[in-house]
Amino acid sequence: MYKIAINIIENEIKKSDDLKNCLSYICKFLNEKIEGYDWVGYYFHNEKNKELELITFSGIATEHTKIPFGKGICGTSALTNNPIVVDDVSKESNYIACNINVKSEIVVPLFNTKKNIGQIDIDSNTINQFTKIDLNFLIKINEMISEKFFKIK
Ligand code: SME
Repeated sequence: MYKIAINIIENEIKKSDDLKNCLSYICKFLNEKIEGYDWVGYYFHNEKNKELELITFSGIATEHTKIPFGKGICGTSALTNNPIVVDDVSKESNYIACNINVKSEIVVPLFNTKKNIGQIDIDSNTINQFTKIDLNFLIKINEMISEKFFKIK
């Protein structure tokens, strides 16, 4: 599924000329087609306000449309520039709950060349949902987005 998904997403990115529409497509596609991806969203950095802003998502609406850098899993990744996989959110102290069903989470930064400008955030209602395969899959998707929309050519 992951290989097919990469091909479909790659085609969508190639033909898209609007970043937000493209990200919305990816969120909906991942949420609907990949088992265990129960909420999928893209946050972008607002450097002026030092916070993340939710750009688009697929899944249950969240009240966390703005997250200060440093707060929660998302805000931590914004500061460290590293992906984060949380196998069991109940064991994580710096965690912002979006809904009570969420059991595990993955956050993967999106880079413009070397600068961290945003992230994909995925919640799962299944514990231990995310593996190295998911991590590499999401890194690849973000690289393709970056290459198309951000990389200085
Ligand atoms: N759980 C995230 C907040 C965003 S929601 O999952 C949509 C966090 O701890 O940063």
